[in-house]
Amino acid sequence: MKRKIVALPGDGIGEVVLKEAIRVLDAVGFEAEYVYGDIGWEFWKKEGNPLPQRTIDLIAEHKVALFGAITSKPKDEAFEELSDELKQKGFVYSSPIVGLRQHFNLDISMRPCHSYEGNPLNFIRRGANNTIEEPMVDVVIFRQNTEGLYGGVEWTNPNDTVYKALMTHPKFVKNFGNTPKEELSISTRIFTKKATERILRAAFEHAKKYGYKSVTVAEKPNVIRETSGMMYKMALQMQKNDYPEIQLWNTNIDAQVMWLTKNPEDYGVIVAGNMFGDIISDGFAGLIGGLGFASSAQFNPDTGVGIFEPTHGSAPKYAKFETPIVNPIAMIESAIMMLDFIEENDKANKIRKAVAEVIKEGKVQTYDMKKMRGAADVVKKGAASTYELTDAIIAKLK
Ligand code: NAI
Ligand code: MG
Repeated sequence: MKRKIVALPGDGIGEVVLKEAIRVLDAVGFEAEYVYGDIGWEFWKKEGNPLPQRTIDLIAEHKVALFGAITSKPKDEAFEELSDELKQKGFVYSSPIVGLRQHFNLDISMRPCHSYEGNPLNFIRRGANNTIEEPMVDVVIFRQNTEGLYGGVEWTNPNDTVYKALMTHPKFVKNFGNTPKEELSISTRIFTKKATERILRAAFEHAKKYGYKSVTVAEKPNVIRETSGMMYKMALQMQKNDYPEIQLWNTNIDAQVMWLTKNPEDYGVIVAGNMFGDIISDGFAGLIGGLGFASSAQFNPDTGVGIFEPTHGSAPKYAKFETPIVNPIAMIESAIMMLDFIEENDKANKIRKAVAEVIKEGKVQTYDMKKMRGAADVVKKGAASTYELTDAIIAKLK
């Protein structure tokens, strides 16, 4: 029986790039049946729900999903796009991606950022004596995906119970005690031991399996003592007990951002809480080519549920071009991660190699690699279309 993979195209260029990834998976000989799931803006407009229950059921059944991208809009705008009939039913828009994370407790987010040789978008820096250096980045960011600043525990003008509780904290009294309650907005940053242990474990395990020499905790433990402090302390303990062969580095997130362009090649696995992990992964993605190259996985190691997606969105302004122009590599990379996740490592490596060869040759490049502005006529001006880049990768697989 063929393995079933849930395919979630979503909106805009999500549909375009997902098709391309499946073409590559077929070409490498990965035998699967793709079951398509509904997600995104269309279903918000039609049903008042961008993440229908039937889609959740599909993922629960088959566990592994490839996801394109979705469109989302602010609450009020979202409401305006509902039909009058649905408007009366009181639906409120919420992000289906966050919904999936919470429903399946996809608490591990993994975002690899590695440079491809020959990618014109690679970061370069000036070295000694005016030399030009092109550091090869090979970093994997592990971002805690469910807690911290994304936990949703927040108030504007907090109720009396909350306010009273806050007033029990001396620092609150000192720093905010004179501010009227109505002028307070509060977002919490809650870390649990369990989730912190899991993201650290995932980071160390990855470093061990793939031979990275260091794991860096990129937080701010000297200032955010409780949450960042707990993460770093737990990392110290874990390294000492279970991974003595791997170095543990500790950087402050702000300094880490500054060092992005100084010595990015020195880092291996990086682990951080939700918000800092999000920021630092976008930072590293910028060094290796940006949104056309940034892929991500979200998974739960206990249940085996994993969702693999490019980091880019639905890029609506490019979605309707007759010939698509966007770079399919971020989505193809996500498919590679999916193959690794289900232990089809040979096939994953074959695709990886094919992508690397095409980039190194530099003959087939989408508009972003050509450093053009995205527009319908870029193909006429010499950029490869989405299809042509995929075709070039497939040709290398033969
Ligand atoms: P976006 O990522 O869709 O596009 C931003 C720009 O990045 C594009 O205009 C294009 O210049 C470039 N770009 C994106 N993907 C590319 C690719 N594969 N190849 C080459 N260039 C690429 O972000 P934007 O425009 O801010 O948001 C559009 C919609 O997508 C919004 O509704 C937003 O909410 C949603 N979104 C969804 C995400 C997801 O599904 N995970 C993530 C980010 C945004
Ligand atoms: Mg982001």
